[in-house]
Amino acid sequence: MPTPCLSAIPRDIACVADYERYARHSLDDNAWAYLASGAGDELTYRRNRDAFDALRLQGRVLGDVGGGHTRLELFGQALAHPILLAPVAYQRLFHDAGELAAAQAAEALEAAMVVSTLASVPLEDIAAATRAPLWFQLYIQPDRGYTRHLVARAEAAGYRALVVTVDAPINGLRNAEQRAGFHLPPGVEAANLRDMAPPPNPLAHLRPGQSPLFDGLLATAPTWADIEALRGLTRLPLILKGVLSPADARQALALGVDGLVVSNHGGRTLDTLPAAIEALPAVADAVGGDIPLLLDGGIRRGTDILKALALGARAVLVGRPWVYGLAAAGPLGAAHAIKVLREELEVAMALTGCATLADIGPATLWR
Ligand code: FNR
Ligand code: LAC
Repeated sequence: MPTPCLSAIPRDIACVADYERYARHSLDDNAWAYLASGAGDELTYRRNRDAFDALRLQGRVLGDVGGGHTRLELFGQALAHPILLAPVAYQRLFHDAGELAAAQAAEALEAAMVVSTLASVPLEDIAAATRAPLWFQLYIQPDRGYTRHLVARAEAAGYRALVVTVDAPINGLRNAEQRAGFHLPPGVEAANLRDMAPPPNPLAHLRPGQSPLFDGLLATAPTWADIEALRGLTRLPLILKGVLSPADARQALALGVDGLVVSNHGGRTLDTLPAAIEALPAVADAVGGDIPLLLDGGIRRGTDILKALALGARAVLVGRPWVYGLAAAGPLGAAHAIKVLREELEVAMALTGCATLADIGPATLWR
């Protein structure tokens, strides 16, 4: 099990990217390969960054931004700022206390945390340990009865939204993980699924000539019918994570979905997908302001958050940066990473003349 190497924040950490090398030092090859890698040739993983870097901001001067703030309301919830902790599986790979440490950071920074189905601490224990607003990320299981049970558990434990991840019905092939022979070490497990009967081997009944993928692993993959069923099942805000296509966004809207996360899963699923920030404008056009959009993938600076909001997102999810902080310096490091992003966002708002998030729009970008 990893132990964070730092007990204080080193002076040379000036931005969240600086945590990466400290995290590399804290983690073994196994955990590092899982955390840092992207699918395929990592083109999408890199493009998430490159696309943000290619955008420019329109600076504005002398506007009165005194009294400005980053508050917002999202799905009826009051949030102090638009930065959420993205769902990240198996956080005990990165710190002994795993999700409990992350939740501590979220609470300190008043950030909402999205807890993964594949959390390494049970969702009830996380809820009991924190006052941070919690949302539950659902991976629809082959056993739909157990899937409903997970939703009921999240509702009972006080989770405030259901984020259904729809872009990873099968694992993207991450070369770094394959090369490192990725495995879950003893003591790290999908704690929410402990009492789930192991799914039947999807390859057991394949006939000669059938595809292990299409006829095996994907035979129980979620479809739009599952989203319709979930809509009928829960009164929680229902959010789909991993939408990039305007057509999919329209279908989600028609089914009564409450929000979307425009995301390519941090470049971890299908390589050569566009950057999330490139896909955002067309999805925003398709939903026409009817439901809130969130975005993740490649957020490393407060200016990235400003750019996402300028192109139509209401809030962002951040994945690797706070996990790097967690691996390097425990809850302190995770909290610091979020704090740095929040402060950078405030500076970027001030220097583009935006006193509130509502002031951020297309004119915030330089054209
Ligand atoms: C993830 N992500 C993810 N997404 C999800 O819906 N459920 C999950 O269990 C996980 N697990 C996971 C583990 C690790 C180690 C990483 C890095 C990512 C994807 C995550 O929620 C988010 O979409 C991306 O991490 C966003 O990209 P950045 O911020 O890491 O660039
Ligand atoms: C991942 C899966 C668990 O990105 O969502 O590793």
